[in-house]
Amino acid sequence: MVPSPPTASDGARARVFSGIQPSGVLHLGNLLGATLRWTEVQHQADAIFCVVDLHALTVPRPPGEIGQATLDMATDVLASGLDPEQCIFFVQSTVPQHAELAWVMQTVTAFGELSRMTQFKEKRDRAEAGDGFISAGLFTYPALMAADILLYDTTEVPVGDDQGQHVELTRDAANRFNSRYGDTFVIPQATLPLAGARVMDLQAPTNKMSKSTDTDAGIIYLSDTPAAITKKFKRAVTDSETEVRYDRAAKPGVSNLLSILGAATGRTPAAAAEGIERYGDLKVATAEAVVELLAPIQARAAELRDDPAEVRRQLARGTERATEQAADVMDRVWDRLGTLRA
Ligand code: TYM
Repeated sequence: MVPSPPTASDGARARVFSGIQPSGVLHLGNLLGATLRWTEVQHQADAIFCVVDLHALTVPRPPGEIGQATLDMATDVLASGLDPEQCIFFVQSTVPQHAELAWVMQTVTAFGELSRMTQFKEKRDRAEAGDGFISAGLFTYPALMAADILLYDTTEVPVGDDQGQHVELTRDAANRFNSRYGDTFVIPQATLPLAGARVMDLQAPTNKMSKSTDTDAGIIYLSDTPAAITKKFKRAVTDSETEVRYDRAAKPGVSNLLSILGAATGRTPAAAAEGIERYGDLKVATAEAVVELLAPIQARAAELRDDPAEVRRQLARGTERATEQAADVMDRVWDRLGTLRA
C-alpha cells in the first residue's frame, strides 16, 4: 500500500522547494528574488533546493560546459548562506525521478497551456533570432519544473515574479492529475518577496534583470567588485523628474532602485524611500546597501571556490537525501497510474 500525500493536518511545517539554472553568474535578481530568501526559509521549513541543470539543456551548450557551470552556480548558492545541515541541496540530474515525473507531467499538461507561457515565447523569439533551433524541451520545460516541485510534496515555492506563471501551471497540472487518478500531489503555491520580486535592468528598467541581456551595464553580478557595483548604480537610468517616489508605472527606474534598496535592507520600497530626497542620494544609498549585502557572500564564495571537493561532497549528500523522498513520491505516482510493476 503506497501512502497518500500529506495533508495540512499532518503538521503545520511548510515544505519548500526551489531551483536555479546554472546559466551564467548569480545576479542581484536571483539573490533578491530567490536565493537570499532560501537562506531564511531553510530555518523555518523543510527546505529543498536544486541547481536545475536539466532545464539549462533546453538551449544548446558546448559539450562538458554544463558540469562546470553547475559547480560554479552551486558554489555561489552555498555562499549566499545555504546550510546543508538545515536544508537539502543537490543537482537535478543526479535524482533521476525528476526526468521520470517530467514525462508523466507532460501527459497532463496541454499544448495550449504551454504555448501561452511568457518565458517560452521570449526564449523562442531569442532562439529564432539566433541559430533558429527551438528545442521541444524549451516548450515542455514547465512540465519538468512541475515535476521538480511535485516530487517533494511541496507547499511553498519561493521564486521571483517571472516564475509565477510556471507555478500556476504546476498547480493546474497537479489538480488535473489528482482528479484523473486520485489524490496524489500536494498543491503548491508560489511565494514572492516583499521587495525584489522583479529586479529590473539598471539601464532598461522596464526589462527584468536577466543573464540573457546583451550588455552587462544594467546587471549586478555577485562577481562584481564594489567599484563596479557603485559605477553601475551611479549610471542607472532614472527619469527627468526629481521626486523620489515608488511608482512602477510612471517611474520604473527610481522604483527599481527603491525595490533593490528595500530588499537589501529588509524594508518595503516605500519605507526605503523615506528620508531620501535626491536621485543621487538614492543611487549612493542603494549601491552602499548592495555592496554591504554582497561582501560576506563574495568572501564565502572565494573560500568555497578554493575547495570544490567540499562543494561536491555537500551536493552528493543532498542527492542521497533528495532521492529518498523523490522515490517515495514517484512510487505513489506509478501506483495511482496503475502501471504494471512486474
Ligand atoms: P532562473 O534560474 O531563471 O532564476 C532563479 C530564481 O531567480 C529569480 N529571478 C529573479 N527574481 C527577481 N528579479 C529578477 N530579475 C530575477 N531573475 C531571476 C527567478 O524567479 C527564480 O526564482 N525555471 C526556473 C528554475 C526552476 C525552478 C524549479 C524554480 C526549475 N525548477 C522549481 C522553482 C521551482 C528558472 O529558470 O529560474
